[in-house]
Amino acid sequence: MQIFCTIKEVKSFVDEKKQLGNVIGFVPTMGALHQGHISLIETSRKQTDITICSIFVNPTQFNNADDLKHYPRTPDNDIQMLQDAKCDILYMPDVNDIYPNNETQQFDFGKIGNVLEGEHRPGHFNGVGQVVSILLKGIQPHKAFFGSKDYQQVMIVKELVKQQNLSVDIISCPILREPDGLAMSSRNKRLTVEERKVASLIPIIMKKAADLAREKGVTYAKLYVDEQIHQQPLMKLDYYEICDAESLDLLQDIYNKRAISLIAVFVGAIRLIDNLEI
Ligand code: PAJ
Repeated sequence: MQIFCTIKEVKSFVDEKKQLGNVIGFVPTMGALHQGHISLIETSRKQTDITICSIFVNPTQFNNADDLKHYPRTPDNDIQMLQDAKCDILYMPDVNDIYPNNETQQFDFGKIGNVLEGEHRPGHFNGVGQVVSILLKGIQPHKAFFGSKDYQQVMIVKELVKQQNLSVDIISCPILREPDGLAMSSRNKRLTVEERKVASLIPIIMKKAADLAREKGVTYAKLYVDEQIHQQPLMKLDYYEICDAESLDLLQDIYNKRAISLIAVFVGAIRLIDNLEI
């Protein structure tokens, strides 16, 4: 695996490979890699000829200074994992390579940008839009791979690609989970042993709530989640919503609709998100 620090180097490598007819896959990450990230690398390797991964803890998408400061950084382990996964290129820029002129860009993603994470983390998706736009324009891959763990992020990225007329396929990949069901996340590394135990309730509560939504309705399911999280002194619910899977409109009922439930919950000081199709 070759490691590049500038987007210029990545682009000239990509241009060379494209001239030889290779299909280029790209997996953007913020590092502290786990098997969920590696599953994206594996999917890219299956669907493309050359796989590029980026690791950049993007400051503009953090709406909480403490979260940015304490975001886990494990570069040596990341490099080893990517090498083992046979990733071809790692792009590891510093902030000046991504934002050389310090300029900011404002996006309007419409309704899908203003609910859930958009509502609870103001500015977050604008930061994601900025960095993903810079990466996709700079690298120009044929395909880019994103995890449905960040369900709303995939929708935002698809909207960004549409708005900016970029010629890249956005591929949504399934959520990888720990053996106890907790969605893999870099932030799980920050949980204490006790918090980690409690966090495993999240997928269990979501599964039960999905069953309840089908049997007794959306209101009942939401009350159930409220109650269950409330009973846990280490947890605090940020939101639990049941939405139309295509528009993210909040649903009052799920009849004849493709519905998805989405949750954000604090476990101690760590904010975790998850989602489950209903
Ligand atoms: P990060 O949280 O590092 O995630 C990088 C990619 O890995 C995202 O597409 C995310 O959805 C995916 N991912 C994370 N956990 C996963 C899991 N358990 N199963 C499957 N995929 C998983 O998301 C970001 O970084 C950033 O916002 C980024 C897109 C890189 C822009 O800065």
